[in-house]
Amino acid sequence: KTGMFTFDPGFLATAACESKITFIDGDLGQLYYRGYPIEQLAEHSDYLESCYLLLNGELPTAQQKSDFDYMVLRHTMLHDQIHNFFRGFRRDAHPMAVMVGVVGALSAFYHDSLDINDPHHREVSAFRLIAKVPTIAAQAYRYSKGLPFSYPKAGLSYAENFLHMMFSTPVAEYKVNPVLAKALDRIFILHADHEQNASTSTVRLAGSSGANPFACIAAGIACLWGPSHGGANEAVLKMLDEIGSVENVPAFMEGVKNKTHKLMGFGHRVYKNMDPRAKIMKQTCDEVLNELGLHNDPKFKLAMELEKIALEDPYFIERKLYPNVDFYSGIVLSAIGIPVAMFTPIFALARTVGWIAHWTEMIADPGMKIGRPRQLYTGAQRRDYVQVDARR
Ligand code: SDX
Repeated sequence: KTGMFTFDPGFLATAACESKITFIDGDLGQLYYRGYPIEQLAEHSDYLESCYLLLNGELPTAQQKSDFDYMVLRHTMLHDQIHNFFRGFRRDAHPMAVMVGVVGALSAFYHDSLDINDPHHREVSAFRLIAKVPTIAAQAYRYSKGLPFSYPKAGLSYAENFLHMMFSTPVAEYKVNPVLAKALDRIFILHADHEQNASTSTVRLAGSSGANPFACIAAGIACLWGPSHGGANEAVLKMLDEIGSVENVPAFMEGVKNKTHKLMGFGHRVYKNMDPRAKIMKQTCDEVLNELGLHNDPKFKLAMELEKIALEDPYFIERKLYPNVDFYSGIVLSAIGIPVAMFTPIFALARTVGWIAHWTEMIADPGMKIGRPRQLYTGAQRRDYVQVDARR
């Protein structure tokens, strides 16, 4: 027993790793960051405060929060030469390809002065990544549109600054709608960490070799890109476009049951109940669409109908398939005006703090060893070499 959470000893014996950062109960649909329920953080916290919590294990005092926010703001700029990396990509490159490349390239600017065994160096790396990944994401979007690179602005929140960097131009300042910025900030909180998911495990494995944190986070971004993982939010919107209207849902569902395609935004490796983040995201979706007068948004109505049908269908009930975090997030991002190609980059920028928290927890452990997954060999038994003219 460890405090409020109990583990089956057998589970601990097989667990890939132990961590104090995030707890998930897949059967109960519960998610806690450092013991705090995600529902309470989504309602009362903001993203940078949740970042502090994930990194330091406790909620910050007012002074600690103000210092943390300042340190992140201080690191939001990019070295001017980094802009050259963007120019090497085609304009139509997927922004996730750009993020993998440019975040990895940060190693070239900070790697040689970095001692990962020095807690202060680890802290600065965390600030640099939490601060620079949104700037890189926004520049990837602007580059794809032929817009000039933009810069963060003091006095804006993390989410407001991201929207500013995405959409402001020298001749037209983006006017931040506080309701939309709050919704985006909540999306960042919901995506900040999620225990040992595929991309976090990728970051841990890469980091276990002693690789620098910028290269490790680039590896995490690469893994997150997959449609089974962070790419699902983009896939949900494409799926809703493909279905088109409620009349087409029955035929689409037949295809799901015949396994010709999946119901994107549904199912989860761990949650066999509703993903708690999906409930919050659905409520956020409602708030944003009402704020924008889009409550009759056909995509949202179609998504709600799809969810209703799936939750009543034995095929999904038997398989414990429920909406996950990605099912509604794309509709919210679309309503805010974020292009679909930027959905997964937003997941990546939000998850950067989780990746860094796990990397730090692992590197700070003096007993850390290089990851080395074992295998069950099912290939050919030992045999002798056969000369080419004797082969059949
Ligand atoms: C994220 O790990 C994390 O924490 C990830 C994440 C995070 O925050 O980091 O939560 C973020 O990645 C959320 C998941 C986003 N992906 C999607 O929405 C893509 C659609 N979902 C599926 O690809 C799938 O559900 C997975 C990949 C998420 C989980 O796959 P599993 O583990 O194989 O699912 P399962 O074992 O529960 O499947 C049981 C059955 C199987 O059918 P049978 O062989 O029993 O007949 O359900 C089927 C699966 O084929 N199934 C689906 C389905 N997901 C599983 N059938 C249709 N549509 C789906 N979405």
